Amino acid sequence: METIDAAELAEIGLRFEVDGEIATITLDRPDKRNAQTFATWRALARIGENLPGQVRIVVVEGEGPSFSAGIDLRMFTPEGVPGQGSFASNLSRDDESMEQAVATAQQGFLWLRRPDIVSIAAVQGHAIGAGFQLALACDLRVLADDAKFCMKEPALGLVPDLTGTKPLVDLVGLPRAIEMCLTARTVEAKEALELRLGELVVPRGELRQAVRDLAAALLSTDRGAATATKRLLQGAQGRSLEEQAAAERREQVQRMKALFARG
Ligand code: CAA
Repeated sequence: METIDAAELAEIGLRFEVDGEIATITLDRPDKRNAQTFATWRALARIGENLPGQVRIVVVEGEGPSFSAGIDLRMFTPEGVPGQGSFASNLSRDDESMEQAVATAQQGFLWLRRPDIVSIAAVQGHAIGAGFQLALACDLRVLADDAKFCMKEPALGLVPDLTGTKPLVDLVGLPRAIEMCLTARTVEAKEALELRLGELVVPRGELRQAVRDLAAALLSTDRGAATATKRLLQGAQGRSLEEQAAAERREQVQRMKALFARG
């Protein structure tokens, strides 16, 4: 996949900056509350494909008052988003091709779980629909005290399909996920913290620094060990205790070899 330059990203409403081991993706359309389009998701996928090898932390943040107001509502109009069509204009395609379009959008989200990086969403203001799902796509969430989450899709007649349903259920449990999604209610920062939708809540003005501090702490461990440990933790839920113990053994043998071959 080809790299994507700053001018092209700016047109889509994104910024991408790399500072040593930390990459920052900024949703940068604050006047439209960082509404997302198919172009946003394709660009996110390309950023993931071309992530510089030294990057260990990916911060996802939003410019302005809101993290993201979700999908660009022009998609619901007959005119759609210029150059990208609308929901209605895509109905002539067969089911497989429509599913493929969603799969392409999902690629913008899925890579944020790669074991060799840790992704952190810095969430202020509204994170609605696709905005909530983008925050859920990240490993960790740091919340400003004005953060507000809403899974709006069911209220609009759709399902959340940008990879958010699994992390939501994993974090808050099935009953709460059903309640939140099927009422499409807004969950504010204090409750979000109680529901484990965020790792910490900080005053709005301290969000950037709190993310920087967390990134620095995450960078303090060995990269190989961090990658192997994240991989182990990610697999834990799908394995029995015995299977997980075996996975620990396998990872540790590789760690020991890497460590002592070095020294
Ligand atoms: N798409 C396009 N434009 C949007 C937008 C969106 N999702 N959200 C806000 N904007 C635009 C507004 O139209 C407005 O534009 P103008 O200045 O040109 O009029 C500008 O951003 C500022 O918006 P507000 O004045 O409403 O800002 P606010 O700070 O008072 O409110 C908000 C912020 C609560 C997010 C409110 O804008 C809002 O409710 N937005 C819509 C949220 C929504 O329903 N999103 C869709 C969720 S579903 C989804 O994402 C996935 C899916 O598949 C369906």
